[in-house]
Amino acid sequence: MIAYDYGEVCNDPDAPEISQKNYFLWRLMIDEEEQGKGYGKKAVKLALEFVKTFPHGKADYCWLCYDKNNEVARKLYLSMGFQEIGEQDDDINAVIKL
Ligand SMILES: CC(C)(COP(=O)(O)OP(=O)(O)OC[C@H]1O[C@@H](n2cnc3c(N)ncnc32)[C@H](O)[C@@H]1OP(=O)(O)O)[C@@H](O)C(=O)NCCC(=O)NCCS
Repeated sequence: MIAYDYGEVCNDPDAPEISQKNYFLWRLMIDEEEQGKGYGKKAVKLALEFVKTFPHGKADYCWLCYDKNNEVARKLYLSMGFQEIGEQDDDINAVIKL
């Protein structure tokens, strides 16, 4: 899923500041049988290409979060240029400049 927060923080007071007027990649899931075949990386690449068309408005960043124990997700996102910006509960937030 891809979200764009218009600055209303999706009515979620716990949403991080980076969520405002930026894009959010959410719940990337590849079928267990198909993991490790490059689909995750390709999906993130295509999602970023789409986000860069700014379909819902301009933004400086795309952000996402992942469980701090999810090493596969962490490795995938960092290899694509995302940078970690801090933790919230058990998740790590990461951003990439658009
Ligand atoms: C995380 C997830 C989306 C990655 O998608 P994927 O198709 O399996 O990943 P890819 O095949 O594109 O590989 C991406 C990188 O992770 C590495 N990787 C993939 N599976 C791995 C595994 N089981 N162990 C270690 N590394 C792994 C690949 O080697 C690759 O690194 P490289 O580019 O240096 O070669 C997928 O595993 C998934 O759906 N997991 C369960 C749900 C989840 O955790 N989603 C993320 C929520 S934020």
